[in-house]
Amino acid sequence: MKDRIAQLLDEVQHAVPETKEQLEEFRLKFLSKKGLIPSLFADFRLVAAEQRKEMGMLLNTLKQTAEEKLKQLQERFEEEQKSTVQFDTSLPVLPETGGRHPISIVRREINSIFERVGFVIAEGPEIEDDFHNFTALNFPEEHPARDMQDTFFLRKSPDVALRTHTSSVQVRVMEQGKLPIRIIAPGRVFRNEAISARAHCIFHQVEGLYVDKDVSFADLKQTLYYFATEFFGPETRIRFRPSYFPFTEISAEMDVSCNICGGKGCNICKYSGWVEILGCGMVDPNVLEACGIDSSTYTGYAFGMGIERITMMKYQINDLRMFFENDMRFLRQFESFV
Ligand code: DAH
Repeated sequence: MKDRIAQLLDEVQHAVPETKEQLEEFRLKFLSKKGLIPSLFADFRLVAAEQRKEMGMLLNTLKQTAEEKLKQLQERFEEEQKSTVQFDTSLPVLPETGGRHPISIVRREINSIFERVGFVIAEGPEIEDDFHNFTALNFPEEHPARDMQDTFFLRKSPDVALRTHTSSVQVRVMEQGKLPIRIIAPGRVFRNEAISARAHCIFHQVEGLYVDKDVSFADLKQTLYYFATEFFGPETRIRFRPSYFPFTEISAEMDVSCNICGGKGCNICKYSGWVEILGCGMVDPNVLEACGIDSSTYTGYAFGMGIERITMMKYQINDLRMFFENDMRFLRQFESFV
């Protein structure tokens, strides 16, 4: 009997059923009621008393080995069947295309509008020093924008901070001293503000700068009018209101006629018909000088606008937080844009 058990154990271990049918044959042969293993158990009665313990153990090992093998293979075949049902490699691939983020779509559109009239893209670091973010831009020592409440400082004295606006790129480009300059600088900026539907501590701006001989405010107006009509449509009107920025003299803010109501008044433009979209002005001579440009020969204009704001206007998005939440239901709506 011992030899018989050993022989069956060997057979069980070496059997390789490759299909469900073969596995069923394996079960019938070894484990079914009339199978080889149960019939050995039937013969067990005949075993001499002193051998029973040993034979019993061997028989149990044989039975367990066969049952174990059956169970494992059953599970494996079931798994394989499931996965072939779920994953048919012969099916054609579903077209799954990515889409651009609305902020990227608008940034690219702004870039392209200005590139068409000779502006080139410039970039600067997001981590800036005090000189490029404030001092060279004519911010007085005690100016509130330098305050801890607005600026994320990374280190104090000498100051290192996350840039609070893309105007710092103006300084970096002017410092290089290659004139004339006609750049547009899109990028991320950081301010220590509470997050709400209208404000975020991270947002995007585009800075524009043109420095040459005889640049005038009329040039600025015409360029911005061109931008507004390209971006919001040919019916768009613009208006300038006097303002103040440390780095421009004269300074202005520009409004566009509300693209939602066409200027008639709605809740987007707070029933005024106008929406402010940017700050601008003639580069202050102090800024030109701080960057090593002779302000008696050269003049320039600059402007800066928030990308979120005009994206919200263009696509009628009423909560700025949507841009940062990565909600696919929101992002999918922009899939077809390029
Ligand atoms: N840097 C200003 C801001 O962050 C925006 C700005 C206003 C930029 C006027 C300019 C400018 O270049 O001339 O609010």
